[in-house]
Parts: sequence; C-alpha cells; structure tokens
Amino acid sequence: MDLKTTPRKTFIDRKNHFVHPSSQISDPRQLVGREAPLKELRDCFETKGLHAFIWGLRGVGKTSLAHSACEKYDDSVVLAAAIGCEKNSTSNELLKDVFRRVVNGGKVNLSGKTIKAKIAAFGFSVEGSAEGFQNQLSIGSVNHASDFLNTILPADHEENKEWVIIIDEFDQLKNTKTIDFFTSLAKQMSVDNVSIKFIFCGVASNLNELIGSHESVDRYLKAVDLNPLLSGNIIDISKDIAEEFSLTLSSGQLNRIAQIACGYPHFAHVIMNEILNVAFEEKFERTQISATIYKEGVQSAAKGAATRLRKAYEDATRRGTDKYIEVLWATADGQLMTKQFKTIKEDYDRIILEQNNREGISKEQNLRNHLNELCKGDDSVLIREKTGWYSFREPMLRSYVRMMAHNNGIDLGDESFKR
Ligand SMILES: Nc1ncnc2c1ncn2[C@@H]1O[C@H](COP(=O)(O)OP(=O)(O)OP(=O)(O)O)[C@@H](O)[C@H]1O
Ligand SMILES: [Mg+2]
Repeated sequence: MDLKTTPRKTFIDRKNHFVHPSSQISDPRQLVGREAPLKELRDCFETKGLHAFIWGLRGVGKTSLAHSACEKYDDSVVLAAAIGCEKNSTSNELLKDVFRRVVNGGKVNLSGKTIKAKIAAFGFSVEGSAEGFQNQLSIGSVNHASDFLNTILPADHEENKEWVIIIDEFDQLKNTKTIDFFTSLAKQMSVDNVSIKFIFCGVASNLNELIGSHESVDRYLKAVDLNPLLSGNIIDISKDIAEEFSLTLSSGQLNRIAQIACGYPHFAHVIMNEILNVAFEEKFERTQISATIYKEGVQSAAKGAATRLRKAYEDATRRGTDKYIEVLWATADGQLMTKQFKTIKEDYDRIILEQNNREGISKEQNLRNHLNELCKGDDSVLIREKTGWYSFREPMLRSYVRMMAHNNGIDLGDESFKR
C-alpha cells in the first residue's frame, strides 16, 4: 500500500481490518502465538460432552481465542451466540440474551410451526421478535434450561456440527447462584447429549476461585489456561501489521514495543495503530519507519490506550505531588512482576539520576510510604504481596506505565535493554 496516494477511506478500512486496539480478533490468521491453546479447543470441539473454560489475566486474549477458534474449526462447530455477563446477571437474563442473539443472528430457522410452539412453551414468542424478547423467561432448573437450549439450537445431523455459545466476562458475575447454574447446566447438557458447547471466558489467576471446585468439573469442562504472549509474538504482531502497509520497523523499534507490552497484545495494536496514523498523515513514502514517526506514534499511543489504564495511571500520579511518577516507573522496571523494596529503591535512584532535572525522594521510609500509599484501597494500583514486596494489581497497567516511562525517555526493560 502506497500511503502517499491511498485514499483515506481505503487506508482506514485496511487499518480496521488488521489493527484491533480495542476489539477482539476473530480471524485465526491474525491470532499470533496461540497454536497450542487453539489445538486444545479443537480437541474440546471434537470431544462429545466437553465444554471449555478459557481463563487468564485481563487482556491476555481470551475473547480473541474463543472467537478465532470457532472460525478456524468451522468444519466442526458453528458460533450460535456470544454474550457477556454483568455483575448482577441472572441465569434467566443470560439465557434470554442467548435467545436474542440466536434469533438476531439468524443461525437457525425458527419459523416452523412446531418449533414456534415449542419455544412458546417456554414463555417466548418468535413472532414480531421485539415483543417476544420482552416476555419474562422463567427457567427454574438446569434440566429445563438444557431443554430450552436444545429447542432453540436443535442438532443439525446433516452438517454434523456442534453449536458454540460463548459466555464471556464470566468473572463479572458476583451472583454465585448464576455461576453454579451455568456450571451445572454445562454438565447437564453433557449428560443430555445436547449438541451445544459452552466456551466460558473469565479473568482469573486460578480457575477454582472463579467457579468453585466441583468434583466432576474436569470431566465436562476443559480448562484452557492463557498466559501473556512471548516477546517474539508481540514482535510478530507489530511486524505483520507493518507488512500489510508495506512498512518495516527496525529491530530496535520492534524490541522496544515488545519491552513495553510485556506479553499484552493490546500495546502492539495501539502503538501500531498510532504509527500508521502518523505515517499516513505525513504521506510517508519510504518503507523503513523513521525514528520520528516511531516516537510520535508511541507518544500518541498513550492517549489511544484503554481508558481504564489511562485513568488508573492519572489517578496514581496526580495526588497533589508529582513524586509518584518515578515510584511507579521503578516498580514497573525490570523483568520481575513482583519486586522487593530494595530493588525498587535501587531502580528508583537510577531513574531519578537518569533524568538529571528531577529531585527524588531520598529517605527510604518516605519512598516506602509512597509505595504503601499506592497499595491502599480495593482498586489500588499496587498490591503488597508480603512485607516489602510490591506488584501491580493489573499487569496491563504495568505495561502502560512502561510506555509512559518510555515516552519520557526512560526505557524500562530487562538487563539486555538497559542503556
Ligand atoms: N494472539 C493474539 N495475537 C494478536 N493480537 C491479539 C491476540 N490476542 C489478543 N489480541 C489483541 O489483544 C487485545 C486483547 O484481546 P482480548 O479482548 O481477546 O483479551 P481478553 O483476555 O478477552 O481481555 P479481557 O480480559 O479484557 O476480556 C485485543 O486488542 C486483541 O485484538
Ligand atoms: Mg475478553
């Protein structure tokens, strides 16, 4: 693509196709570094009565994996509906959401008299859909729910494919009744031999914390544990996007993006999105991204990053003093996710020195107080793991902090990247 002559609309369409800073990926060709979990899902799709639970930290790529797997293995499954959970969602509300999505997606033919009558028996009408959706769905038991899903998504024996329902953001549910309902429903559907698979997705550092430990969970629920991507994967994402626009990045630029991202693909997308915008605006004619374009791109990526990250950073650093900035940078420095006070102090002193115009916190206790201050509250930025050890509550925020430091001339990386 020649950025100088390409019309804006063509450029934007192409960018939206390949760059996804704030939306999931559905095209398995764009899903980098997930071969192993994709195979786990394929095995799950091919095993009768088995559902999947994709779990991992916020932003590792759970939703993208679920959607891409359905696309990739479309010879064995069809995505019927993808729904998200909210804090107070009840099982009836979620089943209603599934129904609405199935009807709107037009995946199954619900126009036959028999099927209409069957659906009506559950208190729903598919006649003039809006009206039908307003009816209260009242499904009291998992057996009833299993029958309901089997009615709206009957097995297609000709195609011999299983339906998939993605139940996303499962971690949002605070109502344990709903959590139990869905885990029991998954089991019941396996027992009833229903041709529908659930893929649950949820933020967790331990799956049992999320769904409780049911004895038979392993038999009908396959846990797919997602870790952050490797640096090489982040490099591939950035490189692949650049190539789609006939551009290349230097190995230094690519490594730096990987160093900022720390395995979270959002950052590769958000930085590449901004680099492409700058290159397009400047009608860039060469193939090798210049240092200026790269720098401008990363600078504006800070504004394009997820709002919750920007807000958390601003809240943490604007507390009537600017002293918290380097405290956060020092905690995000290096390879370790959890850092001991002693190391934070060393990195802090170095960062202050590197800037030469900043006055740091010199007293140890004072620095400790600043760190402890950032650990206060349920949604604090940092958490104290044990005395004197600190880590970020949200690993993606750690990456954002690294990006902010980079934009201020301080590169936080592992040993090989120290300047
Ligand atoms: N394997 C991958 N290769 C390239 N980009 C990816 C990959 N996985 C995810 N992404 C990108 O990373 C971002 C986060 O992905 P996604 O929304 O799937 O994560 P998530 O784990 O579901 O997040 P959350 O915890 O917020 O629900 C998106 O911008 C998506 O496009
Ligand atoms: Mg998600």
